Amino acid sequence: MFQGRNFLKEIDFTADELNYLIDFSIHLKDLKKRGIPHEYLKGQNICLLFEKTSTRTRSAFTVAANDLGAAPEFLGANDIQLGKKESVEDTARVLGSMFDGIEFRGFSQEMVEDLGKYAGVPVWNGLTDEWHPTQMIADYMTLKENFGELKGKKLVYCGDGRNNVANSLFITGAIIGVNVTIASPEELFPDEELVAKAQEYAKESGAKIEITSDIKSAVKDADALYTDVWVSMGEEDKFEERINLLKPYQINKELTDLIEGDYIILHCLPAFHDTETVYGKDVLDKFGISEMEITDEVFRSEQARQFDQAENRMHSIKAIMAVTNGNLFIPKA
Ligand code: CP
Ligand code: NVA
Repeated sequence: MFQGRNFLKEIDFTADELNYLIDFSIHLKDLKKRGIPHEYLKGQNICLLFEKTSTRTRSAFTVAANDLGAAPEFLGANDIQLGKKESVEDTARVLGSMFDGIEFRGFSQEMVEDLGKYAGVPVWNGLTDEWHPTQMIADYMTLKENFGELKGKKLVYCGDGRNNVANSLFITGAIIGVNVTIASPEELFPDEELVAKAQEYAKESGAKIEITSDIKSAVKDADALYTDVWVSMGEEDKFEERINLLKPYQINKELTDLIEGDYIILHCLPAFHDTETVYGKDVLDKFGISEMEITDEVFRSEQARQFDQAENRMHSIKAIMAVTNGNLFIPKA
């Protein structure tokens, strides 16, 4: 059911397929921990195309490819002709004739869709401005590891409600039946078309999805609070505007104290929780704040799961590559 397919956005997959990927990621994590080999892509070559920077996604694809017996090759934005001297279609045809699979991280969803259309081998979306689908398998996997089940759990995303991670969390939750609330200022509410689509999925899955600017009421019965940077890659001129809008949506102790039951904290990373980065120092100098979307206290709290989530990127990306390119026998659910 997955063989030869692209992994470009969540809506291309059914709830059963997404749940399969989550469970298969958990299985592959177990195999890795027990030292059991799983070289489903032995002898393959994997292309890693990055227009934007990355720590987790690049490392996850590299290690996962190696564990699967494949050879990864990194091609950065300035290393190849893509877009500048050669069209996406021509690039896709060339890369597809040499590599067995292609990861792409960049700006445009259209570009990754075009790569997928012309490459003739599976193309995996490692993040665009619109979606971050490989992140979703790791995130919902982490939720499942912590609570044992997904259906009916409540995840509250606090912050920029219309970035790639928010879009992906919202639609994925709606598909698989996780109750996702987006808590953000009205200016950053998700796109109406996305909301309409999510509502359709939610009818089917039973998910309760919600968009609100009232973060304090939203978090009371949360099982997970999730946040992401206030300024995504490519929007670096928006720090002032976003800080002003998003300060009330910071995950801090005052907010987590409102949660009534057990909960976990999630963050796709990288995070601005201190001033140990160039941007962090710059923001302190210019705007007088030393923490942005999450305070250092909450980031280091016992509920924080962001580093498990980061590790899970590797297991889940491995699952995605294995099912689309590994000739595995997967009975239809
Ligand atoms: N979460 C995530 O995609 O991290 P990177 O940008 O480091 O790949
Ligand atoms: N929204 C962030 C996610 C980083 C993993 C960005 O696009 O920069």
